[in-house]
Amino acid sequence: MVAKVVPVDSFDLVVFGATGDLSRRKLIPALYRRMADGQIPDTARIIGAARSDMDVQAFRNMAAEALDRFVPPEELDQSIRDRFLSCIDYLALDVTKEAGWADLRSLLSDDGRPCAYYLSVAPRFFGVIADGIRKAGLVNDMTRIVVEKPLGRDLASAQELNNQLSQCFSEQKIYRIDHYLGKETVQNLMALRFANALFEPLWNARYIDHVQITAAEKVGIEGRGPYYDNVGAMRDMVQNHLLQLLCLTAMEPPSHFAPDAVRDEKLKVLRALEPLTDPADIVRGQYRKDSIGGSYLEEAENPDSRTESFVALKAGISNWRWSGVPFYLRTGKRLRSRVSEIAIRFKDIPHSIFSGPQTATKPNILAIRLQPDEGITLSMTVKDPGQGGMRLTDTDLDMSFAESLTHSGARLPDAYERLVMDVIRGDQTLFMRGDEVEAAWAWIDPIIQANSSIRPVQYDSGSSGPEDALMLLHRDGRRWREISA
Ligand code: NDP
Ligand code: BG6
Repeated sequence: MVAKVVPVDSFDLVVFGATGDLSRRKLIPALYRRMADGQIPDTARIIGAARSDMDVQAFRNMAAEALDRFVPPEELDQSIRDRFLSCIDYLALDVTKEAGWADLRSLLSDDGRPCAYYLSVAPRFFGVIADGIRKAGLVNDMTRIVVEKPLGRDLASAQELNNQLSQCFSEQKIYRIDHYLGKETVQNLMALRFANALFEPLWNARYIDHVQITAAEKVGIEGRGPYYDNVGAMRDMVQNHLLQLLCLTAMEPPSHFAPDAVRDEKLKVLRALEPLTDPADIVRGQYRKDSIGGSYLEEAENPDSRTESFVALKAGISNWRWSGVPFYLRTGKRLRSRVSEIAIRFKDIPHSIFSGPQTATKPNILAIRLQPDEGITLSMTVKDPGQGGMRLTDTDLDMSFAESLTHSGARLPDAYERLVMDVIRGDQTLFMRGDEVEAAWAWIDPIIQANSSIRPVQYDSGSSGPEDALMLLHRDGRRWREISA
């Protein structure tokens, strides 16, 4: 369950955009934690690069502040913090200029260690940085380049981005992050499916009625209004995180747990997605003003915005395994609770042998909970204990990862910890390949084109989303699981 604690040999990690939000909030704390877990040697080098003109000490101070702010005090150890900060260097580099690249070269180690370049900058800089690295003669067998969403805003721009990167790096050197793949429970889904004999025989249209994938957030668009309003939930969450979860749930067993074996299977799922052409199969929503805060329109500072902060849709997969099994996806902001889960709803039993009072059976549901309270729950029908006669009730077989870790003294690593170390190790299994990203856009693009000019329906903040989303399942004789933490 916990990431394997395998120390890596030394490495150089260059973080472009090191002074930015992602770097300070996620990357620096993740690297500190890996060092605290004994996975990063003192000889590793973390080189921050950004436009700001500051010296190494000023950047170390910035990193120290990030640790104090984003790592809980009980996890901060003064001596590890000092060791960590001493691994850090800084280079003021405007990536759009010719100057500075030679300085980067001189900062890098020359002992043949892996060198990863993390592009924690706006996507418009991806091409120019890739080119800068190439022109500076910094590409070799040990080079890795890391990029993060948004990986395009449609198929054409994703293809352009892939082209830009592939002109400088082979696919084996490119690590496209979807941080959902670094979540512990997502990896556990693969263990559950492929390391147990129990579920795989039932994992198909014969036994599964439908699948629900939910990523509900309590927060609104916060300070990201202008960015988010240009993107919306379909691009921000469905195209990447939700489709990745769908792929891992639906894919065939790969022949082995290796990058291309896994990614080939995910790609087949994306290519088997049925075009979503019926407008009734998609619901787009926008939260409205309430006592907690402003409306989406106010926060986005765009009174006429048609951007959705909520999406629910019904997807189908045309293959033997999943024919006729709907995959209902749902994501939204300002909902009742923060919950992400995959719920597999099995079919009803074919015939009940029980009769009399309290003998109704409930369907089995396997819920794989990503957050909060990571774990797996299997709802079962059992005999109501102590009741006279055969009365039935439902109960949950519950496996909380956090609880089992508390007993072992370990903790669940953050997604970025896992993913950054996989980059260093050169393991691409949990990263998206270029063709996967394009296949996801190829499915999403027509949905966006058909819907983006339609005004989304409104929903109350703190609710489960728009009424229409309830109807999406209701008309199929089904209902969403409660969004409750
Ligand atoms: P920020 O705007 O906070 O940071 C941008 C960084 O880019 C700063 O360090 C800035 O340096 C640097 N930069 C800007 N222009 C140049 C330039 N010409 N040359 C060199 N460096 C430059 O962005 P975020 O950290 O929020 O996001 C970075 C990327 O990660 C974006 O693509 C974003 O979409 C993505 N992302 C962010 C997430 C997050 O949680 N923040 C989550 C998922 C993805 P300086 O300050 O010195 O000008
Ligand atoms: C990001 C989206 O990719 O994922 C955000 O851009 C969203 O809008 C976030 O809030 C959700 O991630 P998590 O890990 O909090 O579920």
